Order: sequence, then structure tokens, then C-alpha cells
Amino acid sequence: MKLAILGGSFNPVHAGHLYLAETALSAGYDRVILVPAFVSPFKPGAGDSAAQDRLDMLAAALTANSALALEDCEIKREGISYTIDTIGDIITRYRPEGKPGLLLGDDLAPGFPKWRRAGEIAEMTDLIVARRTSAAKLDLPFRCTYLDNAILDISSAGIRRNIRAGGPWRSLVPEGVRLIIEERGLYRAEDQAPQAGIRSLCARVETAARSMLNSARFLHSRGAALVASDLAVRFGLDRDLAYLAGIAHDMAKELPEEDLKRLAKRDGGGFSKLERKKPSMLHGRAAASLLRENFGLRSEAVLEAVRVHTFGDPGMGPLAKVVYIADKTEPGRVRIPPELRAYGNYAGLDEYFVAVLEATVAYLESKKYELSSGTKRLLSAERRKKSP
Ligand SMILES: [Fe+2]
Ligand SMILES: [Fe+2]
Repeated sequence: MKLAILGGSFNPVHAGHLYLAETALSAGYDRVILVPAFVSPFKPGAGDSAAQDRLDMLAAALTANSALALEDCEIKREGISYTIDTIGDIITRYRPEGKPGLLLGDDLAPGFPKWRRAGEIAEMTDLIVARRTSAAKLDLPFRCTYLDNAILDISSAGIRRNIRAGGPWRSLVPEGVRLIIEERGLYRAEDQAPQAGIRSLCARVETAARSMLNSARFLHSRGAALVASDLAVRFGLDRDLAYLAGIAHDMAKELPEEDLKRLAKRDGGGFSKLERKKPSMLHGRAAASLLRENFGLRSEAVLEAVRVHTFGDPGMGPLAKVVYIADKTEPGRVRIPPELRAYGNYAGLDEYFVAVLEATVAYLESKKYELSSGTKRLLSAERRKKSP
């Protein structure tokens, strides 16, 4: 079997890595082995604590192509990962046909002669230079072939940057990798991270909600929080953020009308006709203001979920949909159709959300309650999506 080796930090693995590995397959290799470094000699200090995450993401990324394989020898070896050790190990264990190919990005290739025991690596492998930055052939002082790959402008550093900044990244990684990044809260800025901060914030908000609500309403909030965190796991979102939004969503519900108006106004919006007529409808917006100002919450996804849970909103994100569903389907809601309680009945979050929204609207109409303009816009947008 002809083998090629692709090393790197894979922090995280992305479509560009997989494309490069596939290109090597079409250049005549039967299998490409991806080898994540424990600590790269080029990026000391980067990534070692996240080794298990990087391995798990690679494992999830490689399921779609059986000719790509994961090799964890550098992670197991720990310490700085030198390519010469890996090549020897792989040749001994895999016994490839001929020399293995060693893929090098054109950004690293000029420095190759300085790698530890570079001469031996060049003897033991066929060096293959892949384009990362330029289509031009480099003037390299060692024998190599060039991989005929297109240059994709995707980098792990760029993905990490966009995750921190809330920019686009999800389409640049395989679905399984996206789920791991979201579920474990990888690469996020400190104030969005689910770990230490959010757990203690949850506890503080829960205590506040308990003191601000009667016991039936508090139990409803806790039911919604538990359902929301289950749904978050099911749909690849952060369970702590979902719990927080669920426990907080109704915390302002028993405040006097004047307080509701004052707090709701702080989000910068005006009042709709329905909100003017029924100020209790402002309790979502008021709770979001409390979370932002009194508890210092920065997560836009949680703030949105709490703010729009009463009416819904045409632009609402996945966490807001999860909280909307949880509010309507938590175990204390005894009158909902039982099929709405099982997410397994629906193809995905959007389909589940529309089913809950339609049932809610049908109930409001049967009681002759007025629909808010936000709910009407949301419903017609979702119906348009269903019947193109
Ligand atoms: Fe509510
Ligand atoms: Fe509620």
C-alpha cells in the first residue's frame, strides 16, 4: 500500500486539510495518514492541552473517507513532535510499499533543510510540496514533487479567529467537527466560554429567578431550562447557555408594569401596539435587560433567546428556537399535543420549531388572543419557506 503522511496541528482540522489529503490520493497514494502533532516544533506552546479535542475532531472528520486515516503516535509520544521519529515509527508499523510520501506546505518547505535530521527524512520519504500560498514552483535545495492542488484560503488560525469574533466558520469544517467545537465551546473568547463563568452565573440567575417568581412559575422556568439544555445537546448547541436562557426567560414576569416598561426600553426598541396594550408581554425584553445589566451577561445568543421568547422573531437563531420550544413543551405544560414533546418526531430543529410555532398560534387563535406583529411575520416567513 502506498502511503502519504500529512502532519500538522489540526487545530481544528478543516476542509483545506481534507482537500489536500484527497488530492494526494488522486496523485497515486492508496492511503493518507493524518498525524496531529502533540507540540509542533513550529508552534511550541500551541495546542498541547487540547490534544484530545484535536484528536476527536480528526476522528469525526475522517469518517467520510476510508482512505484517510488518523495516527496518534505524536500525541502518545508527547513532548515536541519531530517528523523523523514519526516517519521511522510509521515505516516500521505500516510497512508501506516504497517510500512514504511526506506532504509539506509551501509555507514550511523553504525551512525544511533546518528540520531535525532533514537529510534522513529526505532519504526515507518522497517529499511532496503542496501549495498553500502560491502556485509558483519554489527553488528548493532538495528533491521533491509538487502536488497539483488548488489554493484554498482556509486556515485553522482564521477559523479560530472567526469563532472568537462571531464570524462565519461553520461551512469550513465537516459537520462532526462543528458539533464538537460547539458542544465543547472550543476557541471562544473567555466571556462566551461555557466553563467556569457561565456555571456560576447560572446559579446566581437561578437564585434570583426563584426569589422573583411564585413557585409554579419557577418550576415552569426550571422545566424549560432542563428541556432547553437537552435540546441544545441534541442540536449541537451549548447546554449551559441553553439552561441559562431557560431559567431566566420568565424571571421578570411578576415585576410591576412600570418596571417592565423601564427595563424593556433599555434594549433601544419602542413598544408595539400589543406591548402597549399588555405590558406583561414585555417580560422577555425586561429579563434580557436584567441579564445584561445586572448580571453582566455578554452572550448575544442567550440575550436574544430570552428577549424574543414571548413572540418569536423572523431572524431568531438556533438557541432562541430551542428556548421557544422548551418554553412551550416543558413537562408542566399539560395541554400540548404529546407528539410535540418528542424531538425525534422531527427532521431537525427548524421543522420542530415550526411545528411548535403552528400549535402555539392555533391555540392563541382558538382563544381569540391577539397575535403580535412579530409572531405574524415569523409565521408567514416560516410558511413561505415550507411552500416555495
Ligand atoms: Fe414568558
Ligand atoms: Fe415561559
